[in-house]
Amino acid sequence: MRAMTLDSYGLEPRVTELPAPVAKEREVLVRVHATSVNPIDWKQASGRYRPFLTAAFPFVPGYDLAGVVEALGPGVTGFAVGQRVHTRLSGRAGGANAELVRAGLDVLRPMPEGMDFEQAAGLPLAGMTALQGLRDVGGLPMTGARQRVLIIGASGGVGHLAVQLAAAAGAQVTGVCSARNAELVRRLGASSVIDYGTPDAYAGVPPFDLVFDCVGSAPGAFLHLVAAGGRFASCVPGPAVFVRRALNVLSSKAVLPVLLSPNAKDLGTLDALFAQEKLEVIIDGRFDAAQLAEAWKRSATGRTVGKLVVTWR
Ligand SMILES: NC(=O)c1ccc[n+]([C@@H]2O[C@H](COP(=O)([O-])OP(=O)(O)OC[C@H]3O[C@@H](n4cnc5c(N)ncnc54)[C@H](OP(=O)(O)O)[C@@H]3O)[C@@H](O)[C@H]2O)c1
Repeated sequence: MRAMTLDSYGLEPRVTELPAPVAKEREVLVRVHATSVNPIDWKQASGRYRPFLTAAFPFVPGYDLAGVVEALGPGVTGFAVGQRVHTRLSGRAGGANAELVRAGLDVLRPMPEGMDFEQAAGLPLAGMTALQGLRDVGGLPMTGARQRVLIIGASGGVGHLAVQLAAAAGAQVTGVCSARNAELVRRLGASSVIDYGTPDAYAGVPPFDLVFDCVGSAPGAFLHLVAAGGRFASCVPGPAVFVRRALNVLSSKAVLPVLLSPNAKDLGTLDALFAQEKLEVIIDGRFDAAQLAEAWKRSATGRTVGKLVVTWR
């Protein structure tokens, strides 16, 4: 089968022939139709986050995929050959960018009615990060939420889904984005928008119950925007987040890292919201499988609106 692989750390994966995998206990084999790009893909491939994020070579990068069940491993119930499925593969070993991929039942979901392969590949990693970040780390109830939520990076992969999830939960959402994306962020559910390119963008802005950061902002620069008893949840937790977290006991404002834990239940929650038309996945760009390096370059500009997808069929 065809796969995109790296033989050493770097950003130029190439088309390779690999033996087709065989589904193991409680796994299915998926024929991949689309994958999506997440910054972790090229960060891991680059090797710059070693030793926390390593790669075993030959390395097949990527975590999100959508496709059709090709075969069932031993002990699999609830899935059938030919079924359309999607997943964020578990663990930290990548593996998505190949024609055939093994996926565990713990992270696999049937695609909901009306969802195409591109949206299905775009949703899992970014959507579960948004859901877990808002709900589990941010403490946002997913129904009847009355909280004021600030989402920094509201137009990106995680951010554009977080805006929709928080709005669907009932929160009052303010999105931080550039002027070119303001209209989109409002359409997705933000009641107000802050253009981060404006001088004194935050002057006079009242505090929030939750600041959800998708761009790696320094927590110290935003704590004045967190209400007493509120939280700053970071999807890009650098050392400053962990140092500040250690001081949470001394403060009425908590700084917390968001660390995705992929699972089929949360993906099912997102699928249900999609089926209720409360969630859409914006696709900003499409690339052929062999153009994966180009897709990464585009992602690394940090200017993606929604998701970039890679088509395999
Ligand atoms: N902790 C975890 O488990 C976890 C999970 C998923 C993702 N992440 C991390 O979270 C980050 C976001 O991921 P992503 O997939 O959402 O990335 P992304 O799609 O590449 O984000 C790009 C978006 O960020 C916006 N942006 C850039 N700088 C901004 C700023 N200063 N203020 C507001 N918006 C800004 C851009 O808008 P403009 O073009 O308008 O600037 C663009 O729409 C990445 O670092 C990723 O590695 C972590």
